[in-house]
Amino acid sequence: MRLQDKRALVTGGSDGIGLAIAEGFLREGADVLIVGRDAGKLEAARLKLRVHGAVETLSADLATDTGIGAVVEQVKRSGRPLDVLVNNAGVAYLVPFDSVDQAQFQHSFALNVTAAFFLTQGVLPHFGAGASVINISSYFAGKMISKRPSSLYSLSKGALNSLTRSLAFELGPRGIRVNAIAPGTVDTAMRRKTVDNLPAAAQAELRAYVDRSYPLGRIGRPDDLAGMAVYLASDEAAWTSGGIFAIDGGYTAG
Ligand SMILES: NC(=O)c1ccc[n+]([C@@H]2O[C@H](COP(=O)([O-])OP(=O)(O)OC[C@H]3O[C@@H](n4cnc5c(N)ncnc54)[C@H](OP(=O)(O)O)[C@@H]3O)[C@@H](O)[C@H]2O)c1
Repeated sequence: MRLQDKRALVTGGSDGIGLAIAEGFLREGADVLIVGRDAGKLEAARLKLRVHGAVETLSADLATDTGIGAVVEQVKRSGRPLDVLVNNAGVAYLVPFDSVDQAQFQHSFALNVTAAFFLTQGVLPHFGAGASVINISSYFAGKMISKRPSSLYSLSKGALNSLTRSLAFELGPRGIRVNAIAPGTVDTAMRRKTVDNLPAAAQAELRAYVDRSYPLGRIGRPDDLAGMAVYLASDEAAWTSGGIFAIDGGYTAG
């Protein structure tokens, strides 16, 4: 077991990529705390995951200071050091630049950037030796797609990449490693929400784009991300920090 005796916190662990990462951690022997807003989704995830190990849940909105504070408090209350933090909860507003409004901008930054920043800061005193922070970024930080307006989303994930690199420098001397995973398109509720809203012709165009753009011939499944997360969480990655790892079926290689 590669994560035996480690304790991990996965934000957005009740669905999609976060749920798959939480399962990957549990299978390797870690205890996991998953955070999301919807208590029903959290309970469904707990029931699915508990066969693999010890799962705790916490309902909190990480786009708010109160939500971040509640998660920090739970980590503190547990009295056990935290070994792995996965800043995964995120939101994707793929809307044209000229129609982005303040509320979308604030929400995007609150969840994709501010939550990662202040949650990491808040749990810092509770990290165990050799702790690992894993930020879930996106290929959209650096690669744009025609007719998929991503100015706001790309900006927020670019900021998360900068945070990853700067924290690798600031926290490295304390033995804390900070990395990011940049997934390609993954079949999750988030993806379906943005694609299902497109007109039929645009959906067909997107499918054709995927077919010709992904060297491995398909978009990702949530569990395609778990292996890299397990590696980065484990002691095998003891000299890995400041990296932004593309896990995208070869999409950004071209
Ligand atoms: N899917 C993709 O194609 C793709 C590609 C590249 C990067 N990513 C990134 O991967 C991460 C996960 O995406 P996903 O596709 O797995 O999303 P998802 O399936 O929609 O799951 C999102 C998770 O985050 C939780 N969440 C959302 N807003 C939250 C909030 N304000 N506070 C606390 N928890 C919140 C959700 O639970 P509740 O709704 O109950 O809160 C859920 O557990 C995101 O950062 C996303 O930007 C996704």
